[in-house]
Amino acid sequence: MSSSASAAAWWARSRVRILLPVIFLAPALYFLLSPPSSPPFFFTLPTSREESPSASGSRVIWAQRRVAEWRSCGWWRAAMPAPSRRNGYIRIDCYGGLNQLRRDLCDGIAVVRLLNATMVLPKFEVAAYWNESSGFADVFDVDYFIEQTRGYVEVVKDMPEEIASKEPFKVDCSKRKGHFDYVETVLPALLEHQYISLTPAMSQRRDRNPSYAKASYCQGCYNALRLNKNVETKAIELLQAIPKPFLSLHLRFEPDMVAYSRCVYTGLSSKSLSAIEAARGEDRKALTGEAALLWRNRGKCPLTPSETAFILKALGIPTDTNIYLAAGDGLMELEGFTSIYKNIYTKSSLLTHDDFEKMHGNTKAALDYYVSVSSDAYVATFFGNMDKMVTAMRTMQGHQKTLVLSRRAYANYTAVGLSGEQLAMAMWDAHREEYIMGRGSALPEQCFCEFKL
Ligand SMILES: *[C@@H]1O[C@H](CO)[C@@H](O)[C@H](O)[C@H]1NC(C)=O
Ligand SMILES: *[C@@H]1O[C@H](CO)[C@@H](O)[C@H](O)[C@H]1NC(C)=O
Ligand SMILES: *[C@@H]1O[C@H](CO)[C@@H](O)[C@H](O)[C@H]1NC(C)=O
Repeated sequence: MSSSASAAAWWARSRVRILLPVIFLAPALYFLLSPPSSPPFFFTLPTSREESPSASGSRVIWAQRRVAEWRSCGWWRAAMPAPSRRNGYIRIDCYGGLNQLRRDLCDGIAVVRLLNATMVLPKFEVAAYWNESSGFADVFDVDYFIEQTRGYVEVVKDMPEEIASKEPFKVDCSKRKGHFDYVETVLPALLEHQYISLTPAMSQRRDRNPSYAKASYCQGCYNALRLNKNVETKAIELLQAIPKPFLSLHLRFEPDMVAYSRCVYTGLSSKSLSAIEAARGEDRKALTGEAALLWRNRGKCPLTPSETAFILKALGIPTDTNIYLAAGDGLMELEGFTSIYKNIYTKSSLLTHDDFEKMHGNTKAALDYYVSVSSDAYVATFFGNMDKMVTAMRTMQGHQKTLVLSRRAYANYTAVGLSGEQLAMAMWDAHREEYIMGRGSALPEQCFCEFKL
């Protein structure tokens, strides 16, 4: 028998055996082989730089093997059925700094969908602190937002003439205490006026929303907000100017936030102390004695730059690491950090003076946000609005080297008298535990799911 004949015979015998599984596997193969639809970063795995051995080997926090991590959940990736009728138009009014504006917008998207309303472009009302006017379109890409929210929530640029000619009826949510029900309290006003504006109340529970509202929140907040072309171009320019690899550090130690924390510190310069005093109001008086200690042990006190440097060293992060300081002006006691970590980069050191001077506060915040989402590693010394957005977006993109330092662990161990090498070991253990458990990047929200490794 020639070899081709035996091959034909074998093929005849095996055909069924080979073809059957192929038929059953076809849909799965098609799914695996076809290019991913829409946002390409869904399901991206951590990039290969996660595995690259670092100079200081396994004593680096990032080299620790994780047992769990957070990823974007699948359930909200498919658009939900559209509501059968629309109850009117809602404008979400957002106040404060960029990350607060964004948080309110995200909550607002869920409210609009919950009420089966149509969203008009949100109003970004920037607080006096920022001394500027920077609307939604000045920071974010409007067309992208509309396109990406399609199927989740309807967003329009223009309204029918008869509605657009009036100012929206303002519904004040801030006066409503506790957990109120938007359908019960806001829907009647929407039906009556057809066009309302509101600022979502912070106290509102998101987890009680029906799944179509939750899905709209996830999609709108994490997949539909992209910086507009101008800001993005500037952000890319900044990112390219930073030597790689680099760690982005969100350091917070400004007079107003320290005053607000009501914490007391020893060893600060008299210049810092008087800046803190100047920022204190009647209701921000520093705590004293036992109350101050308890407060500190609950993790309420911002880490100083030198405490931050101490913890980073304890985590094995080499002192020659390139560090981008994602922070505004006005950090106090910065020498406590820069005397240890010397390769420091900031917006103001990398952008031309002209660019920097002309820039809005919101644009500056947007640059820090963009660089921090894109950095090799991100460390936050606090868990504020920016840190929540950045850690969530990093998770969306599969960047897992993300850590929020534990103010509580630092306070507790120093309170029981640890210092030097012992304190460093305690910091290592506490943060290692957080990191390998996938905590630290703390994502309690419904949009992310824990994934056991
Ligand atoms: C909104 O539409 C959904 C169907 O998508 C419906 O179940 C719900 O009751 C509607 N809610 C309001 C407030 O109209
Ligand atoms: C705010 O803006 C005004 C006018 O543009 C300017 O004169 C003023 O110095 C600014 N204030 C601060 C604190 O930047
Ligand atoms: C720190 O101390 C507080 C109260 O003393 C305790 O509740 C908390 O669990 C401790 N945290 C850590 C990280 O040790």
